[in-house]
Amino acid sequence: MKGDILLEVEGLAKRFGGVQAVADLSFHVREGEILGMIGPNGSGKTTTFNMITGFYPPDRGRVRFAGRDITGLPPYEVCGCGICRTFQVAKPFRELTVIRNVMTGTLLRHPDPALAETRAEEVLRAVGLAERAQMQAGSLTTIDQRRLEVARALGTAPRLLLLDETMAGLNPTEVAEAMRLIASLRDQGLTVVVVEHVMRAVMSLSDRIVVLDQGTKIAEGNPREISSDPRVIQAYLGAEYQRA
Ligand SMILES: Nc1ncnc2c1ncn2[C@@H]1O[C@H](COP(=O)(O)OP(=O)(O)OP(=O)(O)O)[C@@H](O)[C@H]1O
Ligand SMILES: [Mg+2]
Repeated sequence: MKGDILLEVEGLAKRFGGVQAVADLSFHVREGEILGMIGPNGSGKTTTFNMITGFYPPDRGRVRFAGRDITGLPPYEVCGCGICRTFQVAKPFRELTVIRNVMTGTLLRHPDPALAETRAEEVLRAVGLAERAQMQAGSLTTIDQRRLEVARALGTAPRLLLLDETMAGLNPTEVAEAMRLIASLRDQGLTVVVVEHVMRAVMSLSDRIVVLDQGTKIAEGNPREISSDPRVIQAYLGAEYQRA
């Protein structure tokens, strides 16, 4: 139900050789909310997504989704449970057409290929790729490949969507478009975690924000609290705003 805890992450940790990528990380996501996740480069955001979605098993900690312990499940099972993510670097099946790429997701829910294709067409319309449906995915521009990432994820009909920097490199009009899409997904009942460096998007979309630095959570709160938190400004926002 809206407002109930949908995803709960408790004490997650991951080390790569000498790098503690994520250390004792706990947070939750409520059904129907948009949670922003921000932090400097290398602070552990993508690694957190990788552990939630089963790409890396955590060294320690638990992941619970809709009341079920999903820690360590393989990615396809996590996806089957209703969590889907996009990749920071788009990974389409380059030889397949755009619509076939999306059908790899829709077939999971609609074994009938005709239904799966209809659903894929709807998703492509939603992300603004309908006209490119028959193109080879490998020939799309970078930005359209990122749209396709979102479309493939949506094709699996997730309850929880994890977006990893889907706005990187977009111009202001495209950022506005992406924001409208994410808000409309939330309005349709989807729960979303947004990892993003485009601050005005995170600040205006998110109900709450979790801030990571060196693999640990240094702050959590609503956008107003986060943007005035001295630790966040020091670790991230100060430098980020100066760069912008
Ligand atoms: N597969 C891996 N092997 C070795 N080190 C890794 C691996 N994945 C991530 N790391 C390291 O773990 C740390 C956290 O990386 P991660 O990609 O989670 O950061 P991030 O917050 O997503 O950064 P960015 O904003 O640049 O995408 C970094 O020091 C990174 O180099
Ligand atoms: Mg990352």
